[in-house]
Amino acid sequence: MQLKMSKKIMKPDFQGEFTASILAAAASPEIISFAGGLPNPVSFPIREMEAATQKVLTEKGAMALQYSSTQGYPALRAWIARRYETMGVYGVEADDIIVTNGSQQALEMIGAAMVDPGDEILVEDPTYLVALQSFHLFDPTVLPVTINADGIDCDKLEQTIKAHPDAKFIYVIPNFQNPTGLTYSRAVRERAAAILKASNLLVLEDNPYSELRFSGEGGNSFGAYLGEQCCMFGTFSKIVSPGMRIGWICCRNKELRAKLLNYKSTADLHTNIFCQLVLAQYLEDNDLDQHIEKTKRLYKQKAEHMMACMRKYLPEGVTFTPTEGGMFLWATLPEGITAVELYRAALKKGVAICPGDPFYEYARNVRTFRINYSNSTDEAIETGIRILGETCRELMASSQD
Ligand SMILES: Cc1ncc(COP(=O)(O)O)c(C=O)c1O
Repeated sequence: MQLKMSKKIMKPDFQGEFTASILAAAASPEIISFAGGLPNPVSFPIREMEAATQKVLTEKGAMALQYSSTQGYPALRAWIARRYETMGVYGVEADDIIVTNGSQQALEMIGAAMVDPGDEILVEDPTYLVALQSFHLFDPTVLPVTINADGIDCDKLEQTIKAHPDAKFIYVIPNFQNPTGLTYSRAVRERAAAILKASNLLVLEDNPYSELRFSGEGGNSFGAYLGEQCCMFGTFSKIVSPGMRIGWICCRNKELRAKLLNYKSTADLHTNIFCQLVLAQYLEDNDLDQHIEKTKRLYKQKAEHMMACMRKYLPEGVTFTPTEGGMFLWATLPEGITAVELYRAALKKGVAICPGDPFYEYARNVRTFRINYSNSTDEAIETGIRILGETCRELMASSQD
């Protein structure tokens, strides 16, 4: 049989194919992998979840196993709405929240609701690669805006908005961005908010990592500055469990929310109600902040250990941006070697990194790479970074030959 698949699905997928090949190579148990982004199992409250599951089955068994509403379990939505107060966003109501199948689904829903082929959208450059892949499903023209150590480049943001007044939305990750681990400073947050407020752009703020701040002080969500101009995505993946696949979109614009709900009801009827009930029960019976503290303590220790190893083993000329939270570090190689070269050479010695390439819409053969610290042992971090350092030295020496 000759398959006649859609043009959409047959389109080249640089981000997907590149990343799949890296993760496949990194999957071998002999490889020390800093390439992925798995939460450490310390962040999974297994025993508490067992108790919550038992309670849900005993007290709400029929509801847990029945079809449910597209928007999500009201008690869980109310909990999420209240949580926004800790991010400086007041007045969010349970009705503003749609529970999604991970925050990943929120990206697809927004793409479907907002983008026709050729429509312009703005993203940070680099940005979360699966967001790029999701948006690509709807054939946009992607306009990348550089992100610096203190956040999005506000001059470039202003210029891009001016040159593209019909652009539909901007997608931003202001806290411990994936891939760079960078956080917007207060000054950049405020200036960017003012620029965006004066624009016609819908602002999509993705925020999976802000709860994982282990030092320093965070800033307010864009939702605090921009009201219903800002849709906020969130997830329980990095603080409770990615396997439960529970995320959300907070959309305070009623018209858009109705369209998102239409799309979601067609896509999947509703998010897994069993998991929503168990999660809501867990949140009712336990102190989530106390649980997150445990994860933050571990990530702080891992990040500090990885940064210390980087200072010790990486040669001069390789730089990285220190982090105060999240799960990633972002490093830059000196002129003359690319991250893909480092990836290939290090993999031969048993260490996997994630070259920056798939996180950029257009840039290729870049010198930046991402490394993850959340799920490696201290020994693996030390050995892996030592090998990366040796490999960098060899590549730097041969690039000067
Ligand atoms: C920036 C960002 N957005 C969204 C997601 C998707 O998370 P989930 O679908 O598990 O909520 C991730 C996962 O790593 C991410 O880094």
